Amino acid sequence: MDRLTWSDTAVGVGERREPVNVVPNAEGRDSSGSEVPAGKEPVTPGPDDTDVLLTNGTTVRVRPIRPDDAAALRAFHAGLSAESIMLRFFGAHPTLSDAEVERFTHVDGVDRLALVAEDGMGIVAVARFDRTPGRDEAEAAFVVGDAFQGHGLGSLLLQRLADEARARGIRWLVADTLAENFRMLHVFRDAGFPRTFTLASEVMRVVMDIGHRPGQPVPGAGIGPT
Ligand SMILES: CC(C)(COP(=O)(O)OP(=O)(O)OC[C@H]1O[C@@H](n2cnc3c(N)ncnc32)[C@H](O)[C@@H]1OP(=O)(O)O)[C@@H](O)C(=O)NCCC(=O)NCCS
Repeated sequence: MDRLTWSDTAVGVGERREPVNVVPNAEGRDSSGSEVPAGKEPVTPGPDDTDVLLTNGTTVRVRPIRPDDAAALRAFHAGLSAESIMLRFFGAHPTLSDAEVERFTHVDGVDRLALVAEDGMGIVAVARFDRTPGRDEAEAAFVVGDAFQGHGLGSLLLQRLADEARARGIRWLVADTLAENFRMLHVFRDAGFPRTFTLASEVMRVVMDIGHRPGQPVPGAGIGPT
């Protein structure tokens, strides 16, 4: 598996960092001038890669998923707690099937898009959306590795996913969440988008108007997908 190294540039929590090309030059330094530790397997960041700082001081890299993430995605899933899997899949789901791995790692980047966050060891979170065919509405799903939960990564991924979806003509992000999943509901509530919550059979459906940018006045009109 590729390993990443990170710059030590101090930025505010949640701020985006310019990805640093960690392929060492002749002096063994990366593109920021920092020394690349011996023994690291450097990777060159892609154009859409973003390094973000979490509230616990950890930096992770966020980038679009790739077809060659299959093994890393399986490993990430295998490392999730039973509770996280239950909250994400609404039941026991200890392993991903081949079909799921294929579907999750092969996206068209327009109607289906997924972002992964990774640290130096592998994938630590996934956020994705799938457009309802022919509509300006997409279903969103999130999962953050247990060791990374509660440090702002889910919130960061929601904002980044909303940016990507909006840029592709999507106005409404829809997410079904177990009503007991206070952490996920907290993230949706705090995202700053006008939203509706509808409870049915212990599942809370959240519809967010991502066409509305956080900080702008909330329109008075009724909210719901077209
Ligand atoms: C839900 C999930 C995606 C959120 O990601 P995260 O990185 O943990 O979330 P964040 O750290 O950005 O935010 C969590 C928020 O919930 C709050 N929170 C944490 N634990 C909480 C709890 N038990 N009850 C209520 N709120 C809680 C935090 O204070 C934080 O709010 P703040 O930013 O105002 O401080 C992640 O926890 C996860 O993957 N869980 C398992 C899978 C899952 O539930 N997927 C969602 C299926 S739709």
